[in-house]
Amino acid sequence: MLNKAQIIDILKDNSINEELFQKADKIRKEKVGDNVHLRGLIEFSNICKRSCKYCGLRSADKFIDRYRILKDEIVKYAKHAVDMGYKTLVLQSGEDDYYTQERMVDIIKGIKKLDVALTLSIGERSFEDYKAFKDAGADRYLIRIETTDRNLYKKLHPNMSFDNRIRCLKDLGTLGYEVGTGCLVGLPEQSVESLADDILFFKEINADMVGIGPFIPHPHTPLKDAATGSFTMALKVMALTRIMLPDINIPATTAMETLNPNGRIIALQSGANVVMPNVTTTDYRAKYEIYPNKICITENPDKCFNCIGAKIKSIGRNISTTYGFSHNKG
Ligand code: SAM
Ligand code: SF4
Ligand code: FES
Repeated sequence: MLNKAQIIDILKDNSINEELFQKADKIRKEKVGDNVHLRGLIEFSNICKRSCKYCGLRSADKFIDRYRILKDEIVKYAKHAVDMGYKTLVLQSGEDDYYTQERMVDIIKGIKKLDVALTLSIGERSFEDYKAFKDAGADRYLIRIETTDRNLYKKLHPNMSFDNRIRCLKDLGTLGYEVGTGCLVGLPEQSVESLADDILFFKEINADMVGIGPFIPHPHTPLKDAATGSFTMALKVMALTRIMLPDINIPATTAMETLNPNGRIIALQSGANVVMPNVTTTDYRAKYEIYPNKICITENPDKCFNCIGAKIKSIGRNISTTYGFSHNKG
């Protein structure tokens, strides 16, 4: 295992990048194999009460066309995805209080009837809510720490608390969820040292999944003039995460492909073993604009499934036919 100083050295040294990516790829192959898990993503509401300074869904944004997808339509997308072959679905949204505990439980039960693993990514909720969602059948929960630099966290998240974010991650672990977290790479004022801390944090909380995405400035946010995060640095943080947590699930994130037309395949060859294609239709895709130039916004679920499936096969990998639970248990 690498210590903080070693992680920092690797992050700073670009002469060994290829070696790093190959090592992460080798560990991925040994520990989680050649199967790629596809998780069908349903972005069901772009309404958010928070104002994270980097995000295009922040409540202060007056330009965005807001939408909410209700239970029957969510279940319709879920059913179509399961019929196509998805074994896991991910329900993601802004922090939208319309989706009370009761409404979420109803949606979760509707989806779980389809015999599919279910991940939630709906932000900070109470222990009681997380418990009710788990009891209703949710299997996994994604909530990125975004950055472990407390000062930076505070600057970027008005009226939010780093400690509450940690509380959420702890509660989810206690309740038996597979816990996913992750960070943004390339945030303004973010240091290489803090990225090393992020990787050590994933290890410390024994995460089951870690999603790493480059920061992409959105023109309607306070960070509109900030520099775009580096694709290579995001890939390095991801590869180091694979080396430090060998048997977890790591997605090749959509944000990586937004910065590089082959970004997800490069990520799959540098430590990643998961892809999360969108399974809603074009009515909603463009409106869930967390950052500009998101991929696949004019596509449909079938096209994305076939497209990513062909790309995965072209690099000699297979599409998993299992639920893809984390190997990092016990
Ligand atoms: N609201 C939930 C939450 O924040 O956990 C889930 C939805 S949120 C849109 C999902 C992720 O989008 C966040 O964890 C954040 O890392 C990412 N994100 C937001 N704005 C971004 C940006 N400008 N560039 C890259 N990723 C971004
Ligand atoms: Fe809302 Fe999540 Fe965007 Fe923050 S990152 S503004 S909580 S959707
Ligand atoms: Fe959507 Fe390729 S994954 S078109």
